[in-house]
Amino acid sequence: MSSFAPPAQGLTLGPLRVDTPVVLAPMAGITNAAYRRLCAEQGAGLYVCEMITSRGLVEGDQHTKDMLVFDELETIRSVQLYGSDPVYVGKAAEILCGEYGVAHIDLNFGCPVPKVTRKGGGGALPWKRGLLGEILERAVAAATPYDVPVTMKTRKGIDEDHLTYLDAGRIAQESGCAAIALHGRTVAQAYSGAADWDAIAALVEHVDIPVLGNGDVWEAADALRMVEQTGVAGVVVGRGCLGRPWLFRDLAAAFAGEQVATLPALGEVAAMMRRHAELLCQHLGEERGCKEFRKHVSWYLKGFGAGGEMRRSLGLVDSLAALDRLLADLDPAEPFPVRELGAPRGRQGSPRARVALPEGWLDDADGRGRHVQEDADETTGG
Ligand SMILES: Cc1cc2nc3c(=O)[nH]c(=O)nc-3n(C[C@H](O)[C@H](O)[C@H](O)COP(=O)(O)O)c2cc1C
Repeated sequence: MSSFAPPAQGLTLGPLRVDTPVVLAPMAGITNAAYRRLCAEQGAGLYVCEMITSRGLVEGDQHTKDMLVFDELETIRSVQLYGSDPVYVGKAAEILCGEYGVAHIDLNFGCPVPKVTRKGGGGALPWKRGLLGEILERAVAAATPYDVPVTMKTRKGIDEDHLTYLDAGRIAQESGCAAIALHGRTVAQAYSGAADWDAIAALVEHVDIPVLGNGDVWEAADALRMVEQTGVAGVVVGRGCLGRPWLFRDLAAAFAGEQVATLPALGEVAAMMRRHAELLCQHLGEERGCKEFRKHVSWYLKGFGAGGEMRRSLGLVDSLAALDRLLADLDPAEPFPVRELGAPRGRQGSPRARVALPEGWLDDADGRGRHVQEDADETTGG
């Protein structure tokens, strides 16, 4: 048993203080207002909105506006912004602070999707150190008058031969970012293999700004272990909370020095599912809310005995009344499947032999003034 004592202080991002050093990882299609509220009802932390694009925001794209919705209880509005053009990013940061009252902006430079890296965006962009600096500086310049901290989230690099994270950390620091979050995988790895916590520790050594560690926190104990092993100022939790919003309860307890492992019986899980669906319907209307809810069903039921027919019906649910009827058929006393504890969930995928990049991308590592195409509807952020 480790004698490690978790840090008593919360997380400080420039002028922003968060009681628990835990951040909900932005996840496209998942971390909407309803999900953030659901997680916030469980624990304390910083709950980041789904990624929006700076072009989408600046050009007034309706889909982007629809994603910029906050729950009435969401006192700290935290948004992840994507952009590859310094001018657009600056304008977008200004809009977020001035019109949407956000309290935190996170810039995403970690997306591994070929459609994005092929243009030099996402996880490919930090290779262009000069361009990265320009983007960060513009965002910080726009947010600073509002006292809004800017952070960046990135991966280790394009692949093991083209690592960028240490330079990115230095550039983030020099640009005035309040922190840097590192997902301990390369773009080439996508979600496969294990997150490299040694790289996270190396970044902590390399910079003076707070580092947030990301990758493979499945249980609260993993979060403490990450802090102990790497010295990060906080942890960013993504897939571990899919179908398990109560993980934030365990995380808050763990950072308060208590050992809590919530093991809800199926009845409690069903109540959580109902709450999730209800919040989605409140925010999106019943038809869209139920549709959105469907993708969460298999995560909630992972490891439970519910049969194929039940899962199929829940996966087609179209009203809260229908959901209630189905949930009533689950055995509320069925205990939590403890073999699922610590097990990976959500996307894993396989590594890529080659990362899609623009022609000659690796030949120049500065890229200042370079134009990288960014589409307003870039919606996959991971
Ligand atoms: C469905 C899904 C969507 C994601 N979307 C985003 C995103 O929009 N922005 C981002 O920075 N990362 C995104 N990610 C990556 C996560 O934020 C996180 O970095 C990654 O899942 C590793 O953390 P984990 O091991 O805790 O899941 C996404 C991940 C998943 C599974």
